[in-house]
Amino acid sequence: MLSWDEFDEEETTTAPSAATPAAVAQPAPQTATKLDNQAAGSVEEARAVAADDSSAVARAKQALNELDIREGLAELEGESARVQVGDKQMINARADLNQLVPFKYDWAWQKYLDGCANHWMPQEVNMTADIALWKSVDGLSEDERRIVKRNLGFFSTADSLVANNLVLAVYRLITNPECRQYILRQAFEEAIHTHAYQYCIESLGMDEGEIFNMYHEIPSVAKKASWGLKYTRSISDPTFQTGTVETDKEFLRNLIAYYCVLEGIFFYCGFTQILSMGRRNKMTGTAEQFQYILRDESMHLNFGIDVINQIKIENPHLWDAQMKDEATQMILQGTQLEIEYARDTMPRGVLGMNAAMMEDYLKFIANRRLTQIGLKEEYPGTTNPFPWMSEIMDLKKEKNFFETRVIEYQTGGALSWD
Ligand SMILES: [Fe+2]
Ligand SMILES: [Fe+2]
Repeated sequence: MLSWDEFDEEETTTAPSAATPAAVAQPAPQTATKLDNQAAGSVEEARAVAADDSSAVARAKQALNELDIREGLAELEGESARVQVGDKQMINARADLNQLVPFKYDWAWQKYLDGCANHWMPQEVNMTADIALWKSVDGLSEDERRIVKRNLGFFSTADSLVANNLVLAVYRLITNPECRQYILRQAFEEAIHTHAYQYCIESLGMDEGEIFNMYHEIPSVAKKASWGLKYTRSISDPTFQTGTVETDKEFLRNLIAYYCVLEGIFFYCGFTQILSMGRRNKMTGTAEQFQYILRDESMHLNFGIDVINQIKIENPHLWDAQMKDEATQMILQGTQLEIEYARDTMPRGVLGMNAAMMEDYLKFIANRRLTQIGLKEEYPGTTNPFPWMSEIMDLKKEKNFFETRVIEYQTGGALSWD
């Protein structure tokens, strides 16, 4: 990195000719001016329109002469004072949103760091075995092929819906810079996920139109997409503002819809099916992509849960009986839609699982989502028929997992599916 001394030196030595002894011995005149510290005068001088300025240069100088700096800064969100931790809030904060520190929510910053440490790209995954299996006549059963196609169809557009909701609605309405920093990271991860699905679809030589348009054509996929879109419609309107009980609740409903239901329930049937394939040594490249995505998604989910709970702590009046009932209903509706998706994608038992087992699993997941935001379980006594899914998702293993991945990546190996 250049220091200011080097910067001055560079200007000096590049003056007439760095190679001539005279240039080294005598500093160029502009460096001497800088050293004389006549900055104020020289800015005015630099702004003055000179006789040899072109009209474009003259107009640029004139525009800057007329610029009111205070007006530009006054348009920034939040107050102009130095930030105190106590001024920071998840929604409706008045503290300056461009000053990242001091942190109020250390967990958000830590998630941002963890997300960056877990970076991966779809091209790192070897798809050769998948291509051979997908193209062989009797490599996969019809039921297995249906699972691959349906899930690539659902996920290829679902992550775009999540990304759009993040950047067009959530980012603007969360008034905390460390959370916004994580949201920017999450938005990029959603782009990587869409890339991963596209990479699978292209590698396998699928009909791209059929897969990407599935959310318009297959009812079990369309219903989930449509349910999510309902909760982003009003808050994606650029004129939507939080700040009243009704609009704050509307935003909270959006966060519950996207973090608890879309990312927290709608992804789980598909993840389980594809990961189950990988465990049986089928479509291992696709399954590896899904495993990385699941790791990211479990962090997105945990971030969203923390945000929702923090909003509840800071705004207890929003979490009234009506809101709790609405939140419960949303999670139960989402669970029902996912159960229907499980039945559509598994008309018969396949890969050691069936729709009834998936229904139990989804109810188990729904119980967790409910209790994570402080609501009571609605499916008491449900147990997890797929304990291996919990092992894969266990956040405590996140760091170990990626350490493992790096080692395996360096040696060109793949994930194991124990
Ligand atoms: Fe995603
Ligand atoms: Fe996500």
